[in-house]
Amino acid sequence: MVKNKAWDWSRSEDGIWHIPSEDSHYLVNYWKQKGYVNFLDLGCGLGRHSFQFAKAGFAVFALDLSDEAVDFVFKKASGEHLPIKTFKGDMTNMPFENEKIDCLLAFHVLSHTDTPGMKKVIGEIERVVKPGGEVFITLCSKDAWSYKDAGFPVIDENSVMKIEDGPENGIPHFFADRDIIDRLFTGFNIQSLKHTQDIIVEGEEYGSWHYFIKASRKI
Ligand SMILES: C[S@@+](CC[C@H](N)C(=O)[O-])C[C@H]1O[C@@H](n2cnc3c(N)ncnc32)[C@H](O)[C@@H]1O
Repeated sequence: MVKNKAWDWSRSEDGIWHIPSEDSHYLVNYWKQKGYVNFLDLGCGLGRHSFQFAKAGFAVFALDLSDEAVDFVFKKASGEHLPIKTFKGDMTNMPFENEKIDCLLAFHVLSHTDTPGMKKVIGEIERVVKPGGEVFITLCSKDAWSYKDAGFPVIDENSVMKIEDGPENGIPHFFADRDIIDRLFTGFNIQSLKHTQDIIVEGEEYGSWHYFIKASRKI
């Protein structure tokens, strides 16, 4: 496994990372109705989903590899007296006991590794999420420009090293297809699977494709 590397948030100028994603509005209500309490924001970044879920009454665990991101979430959560516990750590080796988590969101996070790293993190998610608990995970797709056409250095059959100006420079990226998803998620029942293209984001042409996976941990 190549070494995982945090996002360099000092190089991100994008305001979208402070505004909860579209999917999270559904999930926060759906998981609240199910009576879930312990929510893990895996790869929390600047905490847009951690704050959203904490305000809705969840006990939030927010983990990220970036010192800057974790410090930001810790300070904001303390200032606003929100029930968010922050953790600096790697998704492939999480500091949580078995079956602690009711529901988990990993939004644009898991793909920041290579194939051995991806197998490890899925194993970790299986370990920390309760049987019957649910996850919502996004993965980069093999249809994306950065896998097919960018010419980034190849790490293994599913992964490349992104070399570009910005917060993701020097970060390994894993790309999935349907077959890989079925093989990775054997410990889960997939409830919904979407494969979408971002054609324009914030007014700019884009070439990215992602999978959006909602799944429950097998009992
Ligand atoms: C694109 S940002 C998304 C942040 C957040 N999930 C959101 O939707 O706003 C990806 C985040 O994943 C974190 N990350 C990358 N690799 C990680 C790893 N191995 N373990 C934990 N966090 C990681 C990065 O540091 C970064 O904060």
